[in-house]
Order: sequence, then structure tokens, then C-alpha cells
Amino acid sequence: MRSLYINIKELLQVREEKTDKVSGKYMRTLPTLKNAFLLIENDTIIDFGEMKNATAIEADKIIDVSGKIILPSWCDSHTHIVYAGNREQEFVDRINGLTYEEIANKGGGILNSAKTLANTSEEELYQQSKSRLEAVMQLGTGAVEIKSGYGLTADAELKMLRVIKRLQNEYPIAIKSTFLGAHAVPAEFKTNKDAYVREIIEHILPQVTKENLAEYIDVFCEEGYFSVADMEAILEAAKSYGLTPKVHVNQFNAIGGVKAAVKHNALSVDHLEIMQEQDIEALKNTNTMPVGLPLCSYFLSIPYAPARKMIDGGLPFALATDYNPGSSPSGNMNLVVATACIKMRITPEEAINAATINGAYAMGLSETHGSITKGKKANFIITKEIPSYGYLPYDFGNNNIDTVVLNGKQL
Ligand code: NIG
Ligand code: FE
Repeated sequence: MRSLYINIKELLQVREEKTDKVSGKYMRTLPTLKNAFLLIENDTIIDFGEMKNATAIEADKIIDVSGKIILPSWCDSHTHIVYAGNREQEFVDRINGLTYEEIANKGGGILNSAKTLANTSEEELYQQSKSRLEAVMQLGTGAVEIKSGYGLTADAELKMLRVIKRLQNEYPIAIKSTFLGAHAVPAEFKTNKDAYVREIIEHILPQVTKENLAEYIDVFCEEGYFSVADMEAILEAAKSYGLTPKVHVNQFNAIGGVKAAVKHNALSVDHLEIMQEQDIEALKNTNTMPVGLPLCSYFLSIPYAPARKMIDGGLPFALATDYNPGSSPSGNMNLVVATACIKMRITPEEAINAATINGAYAMGLSETHGSITKGKKANFIITKEIPSYGYLPYDFGNNNIDTVVLNGKQL
């Protein structure tokens, strides 16, 4: 089945096969074609070009999208969308003056979500998670990474990861799974964190890998959570099982996690709200993608990752939602792109590159997602009739999506 989209006002992010990520000043360029066509066969992009070259093309279906822009669907490389319940009360507590740290120290935060998750059945967890996934697909996300980390026991971590696996099997969206056993120290281990690190390495990790439930390993490397040494021990152990690191570092404090993650060949380092000069230096000329999570900064009123500085320093940069109940209860990539432009002062071109091709890189999906490229998945967003692509972040908070196509099918 061949479908031909014609009269595309502008087709964004058209790339040759070999581009896996864009860095530094190249992020300012978003390759596009005006007045274009796009030809897909089943779930694959097979051709695109200017309308004047579309006349001889045969297709089973022709879709006229005059006035509308087409761009690759968003690649959200950092989420925690498998969780139970919500933390609305903590949100109000923060409005009333408590900090995220104070709430966590009182047993709230991640441990609060872990308690709720422990009392939620796998079926119920699946039901709650699938509605979030369906909602973000409608918002144009076509590939997503999902982490465990609200289990913090073998049983509950496996429950989360099995829910991720079920979502992978039942939805057309590409899903990558990450084991985040080291998200917080459970109350039972409060005075013996080392024993929990051992529990992860010796008991939970082997079960996760035996069931083949994760491709990536994550650690929340932060004061009061896991030290650089804890992270290194976990990454080292995970490496022997073939898991690749994608880690939470530098959210509240710079404690050396970036350099250590780079040393362990992390695919991405995420958060980066607090970056010192040496952290930026450590990322130069490496394969590690820095990932910013602007909705977390927005929701918690903490600093934004210095995206401008990193890009001006020649680094690549990706954007993700961090969709989770505590620091970003939104999985809206459109809002991420707008917030990055507004608060991180990156251009619409840089933000769209960060949320598509670089997001795909940050979850190992460069071969299939993140750009309009022959041979890649037919995953794209058709906008409403809008004046230009810069209008997307400008018109923040409003939904300018007309149609989402995932694996060649309209949602
Ligand atoms: O990425 N920082 C660690 N983990 C999550 C928040 C977890 C939570 O508050 O539930 C994050 O922001
Ligand atoms: Fe996170």
C-alpha cells in the first residue's frame, strides 16, 4: 500500500541516511523542502521531493495537505510514564513553601510513588500507563523511552518492566526500556545504602536481564540518592549484561556524574540543570548526548540546563519530557519544544533538531526514527494550517497538530 502526501507546505528535517545526530552550529540548520511530496509504502518512507517531481508517481492513496507542514514525529528519549496514581498533594505542598528536597526527606517524592505502585496490580498499572501513552501519541510522539524506578524491589521493578514490555507489544510507537532500580534508596535501606546497591547488582539486575526486560541502565546520581561511586559500580555490573547507560546527572548538584558517565560510554546524560565548566568539557568529542528536560525545570522552578552554552560550545543537544508524577506530570513534547525556545533561548531549528533527530540518537533509534529519510519509519506529524514552523513554539500551549501518522497509519 503506497500513500502519497502532496502539496506539503514545508517538509521538515529531510536528511540523508548517514546523519545520526547534529551538533553545535549545525543545530541552527533545519533542512526543509517547500511545496513538497512524501511517498510512503506500508510503514516506510520511500521517497520525497519537490512537487514538480511528483507527477509520475503512482500511489494507492493521495492525500492533499495544502497549507500544512509535515515533520518527523517527536522522539521523547526520557520518560517515567509507567507509574501509579499521582503526587498532586506534593504539588500543593510545594506551592505552600516546601521544596522538592524537603518533601523527599519526609518520605514523599519517589518513595511516595513507590508505595502507591507496590499497592497497584500489574493490570491496573498497565491501564494507567497505556492512557498516558495514548495521550502522548496523539500529541505527536512517535518514539519513547520508558524507565522503571518506582518499584525499588525486585518484584515491583519487574512489574514495571513487564508493563513496559506489554506496551511495546501492543502499540505502534517505538518504545525503549530502561532499568532504573537506583532511582531512590528505599526506606528499609535508609541507613545502609550500600546494601541496596548490592541488592540491585546481585539480585534485581540479573532477573531483569534474564527476562530481557531492559536495554538501558539508569542511575539517579545526586546528593541524597546515589554517589558517583554507586553509579560506577552499577554501570560496571550492567555492562557485563550488555546494558548501555543513560543516566540522571546534575539535576540539583554537580558531583562529577557527567565525567563518570562519559567514561562508561553513556548514550546520554540527562537533566544537566547544574553544569560546571568541566562537565561541559567532559562531553566534548564524545558519543554521549546531553539531554535537557525543560518541563522539569518549569514544574519545579529550578534552573534550566544551559543548552545555549552547550550548543555554542559545539555539543549536540536533545530534548525530552521526563514525564513523571513528581517533577514533570506532562508528556507534551510540543510544550517541551516551546519551553526550550522560551527559557533556554534556543532557536526553533535547534529545538526541533533536539526533539527529533537528536532525541532518536539518545535512545538508539537513529536508524529508523528522527528524520524524514528514505528507509526510515513513516512516523510524522501533519500540522494544522500554520504560517511557518517557527509558529509551533511561538504559539505555545496550543495544539497545532492536525494528524499523527505512526508506522504509516493515521492515528
Ligand atoms: O527525572 N530525578 C529523578 N527522577 C525523576 C523525578 C522522579 C520523581 O520525582 O518522581 C526526574 O525528575
Ligand atoms: Fe527522569
